[in-house]
Amino acid sequence: MTVTIKSEREIELMREAGRLLGRVHEELAGIIRPGISTKDIDRVCEEIIRSYGCTPNFLHYQGYPASVCVSVNEEVVHGIPREDHILKEGDIVSLDTGLIYQGYHSDAARTHAVGQISAEAQKLMDVTKQSFFEGIKMARAGMHLHDISNAIAAYVTPFGYGIVRDLVGHGIGTHLHEPPHIPNYAVRRRGIRLRPGMTLAIEPMINMGTGDVEWLDDDWTVISADHSLSAHYENTVLITEGEPEILTLMS
Ligand code: MF3
Ligand code: CO
Repeated sequence: MTVTIKSEREIELMREAGRLLGRVHEELAGIIRPGISTKDIDRVCEEIIRSYGCTPNFLHYQGYPASVCVSVNEEVVHGIPREDHILKEGDIVSLDTGLIYQGYHSDAARTHAVGQISAEAQKLMDVTKQSFFEGIKMARAGMHLHDISNAIAAYVTPFGYGIVRDLVGHGIGTHLHEPPHIPNYAVRRRGIRLRPGMTLAIEPMINMGTGDVEWLDDDWTVISADHSLSAHYENTVLITEGEPEILTLMS
C-alpha cells in the first residue's frame, strides 16, 4: 500500500474525525485526578466517543481490549485500563485514543499530570509536546518525511532524554495505521516527499532515561527498559499547500 492522498471530500471527513477527537481529549483532561482508576478513564472515553455517533478505533484492534491506552509513569504506550490501577498524586499519565467518523480515523495522545508532579516530570512532558511542534514545522509540501523525524530528534536529544525507536508515527485515513512509518529519531535518508492531502499521525514517545523499551506479559503494555518516566504526545496532521493543519487540536 502506498501513501494515500486524500480528496477534498475525504479531508472534510478527516477534519471532523479530528475535531471530535480533540473534544474527547478536552473532556478526558477534566477527569484526571488522584483516585480515578485507569478503567474509569476507559469507560468515560468510550461513552464520549459513542455519544458523538463515532466508533472507538482502538477497541478490538488486533485484540486490544479498550478504547483508550492509559500508560502511567514508566509505561510508554498501550497500557491496558484496569479497575485496580488507581492514579495517584505525582503520576504522569498518557492517554492515547482515536475514533472513526464516517469511515475515517483520527488518533491523538496527551500526557497529563496527576495532581502535583515533580519539576523533572513536567519538563519531560513539556519537551515531548514541544518536540511534536518542532517536527510539524517540517510537515509541509515539498519537505521530506524524515525532515519531521530529524527535527524531533534534534530538539529532544540535547535534553539527554531517550527517544523510543521501537514504535513510530504513521499515516492514517480509512485505516488507523497506513504507510508511511514516521520515526521520531534521526534518519539519514530523506524519506518520501510530503504532498498536500497526506494525513499523518505524528507521535513522539520520549523517556527520561534511555529509549529502550520492553513489553509486559500482557503483550501490550510497553515500558521503558530502565523504568524511567515516559511521555507521549500525538496529533493527526494534514499536509496542505501551506501551514500543516493539526486536525485533533481544539482551537
Ligand atoms: N495510537 C496507537 C498507535 O498509533 C494505537 C494503539 S492501537 C491499540 O500505535 F490497539 F493499542 F489501541
Ligand atoms: Co498513533
